[in-house]
Amino acid sequence: MSNLEGSVVRRPLVSGNWKMHHDHIEALHTVRDLGLRLKAPDVGSVDVSIHPPFTDLRTVQTVVEGESIPLALGAQHCYFEDRGAFTGEVSPQMLARLGTRYVVVGHSERRRLFAMSDAAVAATVRAVLRHEMTPICCVGESEAERDAGRTETCLSVQVRAAFNGLSAAQLGGLVVAYEPLWAIGSGRAATAVDAEDACVFIRGLVAELAGAEAASTVRVQYGGSVTAENAAELVSEPDVDGLLVGGASLEAGTFLDIIRAVGGCYRS
Ligand code: PGA
Repeated sequence: MSNLEGSVVRRPLVSGNWKMHHDHIEALHTVRDLGLRLKAPDVGSVDVSIHPPFTDLRTVQTVVEGESIPLALGAQHCYFEDRGAFTGEVSPQMLARLGTRYVVVGHSERRRLFAMSDAAVAATVRAVLRHEMTPICCVGESEAERDAGRTETCLSVQVRAAFNGLSAAQLGGLVVAYEPLWAIGSGRAATAVDAEDACVFIRGLVAELAGAEAASTVRVQYGGSVTAENAAELVSEPDVDGLLVGGASLEAGTFLDIIRAVGGCYRS
């Protein structure tokens, strides 16, 4: 596997973004099911996080901790202030208290449907870091931008806006998810070569902002119509360090197949 041939082996991260699916009872069943099936070798070379809706987090935390399931708890979003008069928002401090390890920041659905700005993305990345959690910062171009040959410009604007001013240590420890908008939920994943090109480009931007060492440790995921069938091909690319999975993460068996496909690419 090409990931093993390079000088740096980044541990891949497979993240299940449940979006607005599964109430806390369904979440309980899904996580238990995953916990029963997941064996130690499945996570020997792969980190796995699940990102349920806010109302499920406490339930999932209790099951994961109580049954020692090797899954990291993740959230899908948060606000950037710790407390205050922000009706409807959830703070990073609240997530940290629940043992949340990863927070998706700036998913395209937040940017597009809820008008999350580049400035809000940047503030949220910092807020998540302040509470010692890991942001999974999403970037990606629309179909129109891609057709107009503006993919790199779009990625460059989003990455610079989100990360400008972060230290090398901060940037090197976080996760970026390359999620082309046209691939999300469409059944039309990027080709492995296109995903690799974008991930290489993103890593280059990190190098410009924070140096080569940060660029060599930052993990860049691909997301958008990932399935058990295309997972291995995507992560076989040297700069694709894991996957952000939406629809295919909702069912334990399918998500496990993806985790195993990724693990198979990283086993020596
Ligand atoms: P999808 O969603 O896997 O259902 O395309 C990915 C995402 O939006 O994170």
